[in-house]
Amino acid sequence: MNSVRRMTSILRNEYNGEGLDIAFFAEDPVQQFERWMKEAILNNVREPNAVHLATIDAAGSPSGRIVLLRDFSYRGFTFYTNYESRKGEGLQQNSLASMTFFWNEMYRQVRLGGNVFRLPAEESDAYFRSRPRESQISAVASQQSRVLDSRELLERLAVEIDEKYRDRPIPRPENWGGYYLSPDYVEFWQGREHRLHDRIQYVKTGKDNTWSKHLLFP
Ligand SMILES: Cc1cc2nc3c(=O)[nH]c(=O)nc-3n(C[C@H](O)[C@H](O)[C@H](O)COP(=O)(O)O)c2cc1C
Repeated sequence: MNSVRRMTSILRNEYNGEGLDIAFFAEDPVQQFERWMKEAILNNVREPNAVHLATIDAAGSPSGRIVLLRDFSYRGFTFYTNYESRKGEGLQQNSLASMTFFWNEMYRQVRLGGNVFRLPAEESDAYFRSRPRESQISAVASQQSRVLDSRELLERLAVEIDEKYRDRPIPRPENWGGYYLSPDYVEFWQGREHRLHDRIQYVKTGKDNTWSKHLLFP
């Protein structure tokens, strides 16, 4: 273990990203996010829509996990999950959350925070219908974040659900659906050489999608 710990302490990459020019950054962070997501996709970043989601859980402790971003717009940044999971129960009590994207291949990070809202049921229904049948079965079978007595139990539940809905579509479970995070701030980080990184932060100034932007010390 000691050699791995030593390796961990000396791992060091130079981040040689190109500089950011605030004058060329979009008026609002949603447009700017669209540009960066496009660049991440074109640059073959692995799973660019995988995002760390931090929430406060029901006991008041911070907790984080990765989810997949499924949509973004001026309304917010959308992901799908189980409403009774640890994150779901946490969000019920405290709707504040943050998301962090790390696009390693481009030395980029995007961070945003704000309130999280449930998607309208029809939108969750439409997305659920679009998922592969196996994923639908998994969403029905999983009491996400509850203690599971054995792997066999989960697999048995999946088989039972598969058989139950052999001849008809699987309905979306009520405890599964989408959320969107409506950001109050969005920060774009670009790694630069000698740790003199660039950071540009947008802060919401009004309800009507008006934003101010500024640089931050790295
Ligand atoms: C790459 C990746 C993508 C994931 N996508 C999702 C997702 O979209 N929705 C989800 O509920 N869990 C997703 N998970 C699993 C979550 O990280 C987490 O284990 C689960 O949601 C339970 O979290 P909770 O107990 O904090 O509620 C993903 C995990 C990884 C590693």
